[in-house]
Order: sequence, then structure tokens, then C-alpha cells
Amino acid sequence: MEKLNDVFVLNNGYKIPCVGYGTWRTPLEIAAQSVEKAIQAGYRHIDTAAVYRNETGVGEGIKRADINREELFVTSKVWNSERGYDRTIRAFEKTLADLQLDYLDLYLIHWPANSRQFDNWDEINLDTWRAMSDLYKAGKIRSIGISNFNVRHMQSLMEAEIKPMVNQIRFHPGMMQKEITEFCQANGVLVEAYSPLGHGEILNDPALKEIADKYGRTVAQICLRWVLQHDVRPLPKSVTPERIVSNTQIFDFELSDEDMKTIDMMDTGEYVDSDNIPF
Ligand code: A2P
Repeated sequence: MEKLNDVFVLNNGYKIPCVGYGTWRTPLEIAAQSVEKAIQAGYRHIDTAAVYRNETGVGEGIKRADINREELFVTSKVWNSERGYDRTIRAFEKTLADLQLDYLDLYLIHWPANSRQFDNWDEINLDTWRAMSDLYKAGKIRSIGISNFNVRHMQSLMEAEIKPMVNQIRFHPGMMQKEITEFCQANGVLVEAYSPLGHGEILNDPALKEIADKYGRTVAQICLRWVLQHDVRPLPKSVTPERIVSNTQIFDFELSDEDMKTIDMMDTGEYVDSDNIPF
């Protein structure tokens, strides 16, 4: 990847910009201005979700940026309370209305129904997936995928008529989630990294700082570059105008194999099994 809007090609042939703009924890009141700023800074992918409760603001920001819709890639996600066929269809329609759009580029199941909560978790996920697939076939969504799914949760979907194009997981230095990443990459499912900056909590890590100093970069830029060099697409979130811009400046340097390995080794192995999530 050489520039912000170089693309990954999904397994349905659809193209997705290599870096996206995340909006988790972006308050509704400033979502519009942040999204407008991000589009002005060159981002062409915006990632939101119904549960972020900022879709109306995100939609407003997209409108204000006044950009050709075809140039923009918009993702949202169906929340856990809306699983199942009918609810998913309704949730999608609400998301679309809140965003003031007439199609989505990517729609994800936010979290798998899991075995801790449901005996029939696989069936629930498949019902939700059937709704996503029908919306996809109807042309209302250009690509569909999942988020926070581990290998066990993905297995049935990989045998469905339409396979997921994307799995969005937490991925940052200290949290590589190797097993699911390798499974997705071996099976043609693009991995997206949410919280690529570890919610900002890893930005003072001394080892990362040392690497950043060596390259004359910020720690955030090192994290994002590291994600990208793993063929994973980062979704950095920032509401700060300078950071929105500096998080895009990751294409004029390359981390050496040695530094990649050093960062890989920071993996705490703290795999977050979505079966243990109580929501
Ligand atoms: P803010 O939105 O106030 O700019 P993540 O994407 O891993 O969830 O991290 C998001 C957090 O990291 C937010 O708190 C965001 O703050 C902060 N952040 C984003 N970009 C940078 C940056 N370049 N430098 C420092 N902090 C950043």
C-alpha cells in the first residue's frame, strides 16, 4: 500500500480503502464535524455502528463533506439486541435512514451470539446472516461481514451461500489475535483492526516509543504501519483534527522485519474469546 486510498480487494471483488476512520466513542454532538474533517483529510472509509449512537451525526458529516457517494465506503454494524432475521432487516433500515444513505458498503454482525448466553447460538448467527445475505443480494449492501467472531463462530458461515468478506477484530501491538487472523487470511476474509492504537493506552509504551524515535514518527503512526504491514486494515479513531491528519501519514516509511518482530513479540496472548463476553 502506498497511499491512503489504495485498496484491499474483498472476496467478492469489491474494493475497500486500506485505512478507515473509526468512530467508536465519538459523541453524537461532534460526530458530524469529525467525519467531515476526516473526509477532508482524505479518508474515504467511515466505520460506525448502531450501538455507537452517532449514526445521525456520521450521516450529517458525510452530507456536509459533499462528496460523490460512490467514492465513499461506509460501514455499520447490527447490534446484539437485533439479532435474528426480522430484527436485522429492521435494524439495517434504521441505520440506513439515520445515515441518510440509500445503500451501505459494508454491514457487519457486531458480536456473535455466543454459547455462554445461548444454546442455539449457531442458529441465531445463521438467521442473522441470512438477513444480511438477503440484503446483500438485493443490492442494499455491497459487502457483508462479521466482527469479533472467532474461528468457532465463523465455521458455519464459511459454509453459507455467501461467505463473510470481512472480520473486524481488536488488533494492536500487544493484541494480535493470531489464530483468528491467520484463519481469516487463509480463507480470504479481510481482517480489519479496531482499536489499532489500543484505545490510546499503548501510546506511552517505552519500547514503541524507542521504535518511533528511530523512524522519526509518532507511536500512533508506528502502530498503524505495523497493522498495515500485517495485511490488516486499521481503523484509527480520533476526534482531534491534527491526529486525524497525522494518522494518515504512514505511507512514506516501512518498518523493518526486525522491528515488526519486536512489536509482534509484545503480544500479551490475551486472546479475548467472544464466548466469554456477557452481552
Ligand atoms: P482523540 O479521539 O481524543 O484524538 P483507538 O483507535 O485504538 O480506539 O484509539 C483511539 C484513542 O486514541 C482516542 O482516545 C484518540 O483520542 C486517541 N488517538 C487517536 N490518534 C492519536 C494520535 N495520533 N496520538 C495520540 N492519541 C491518539
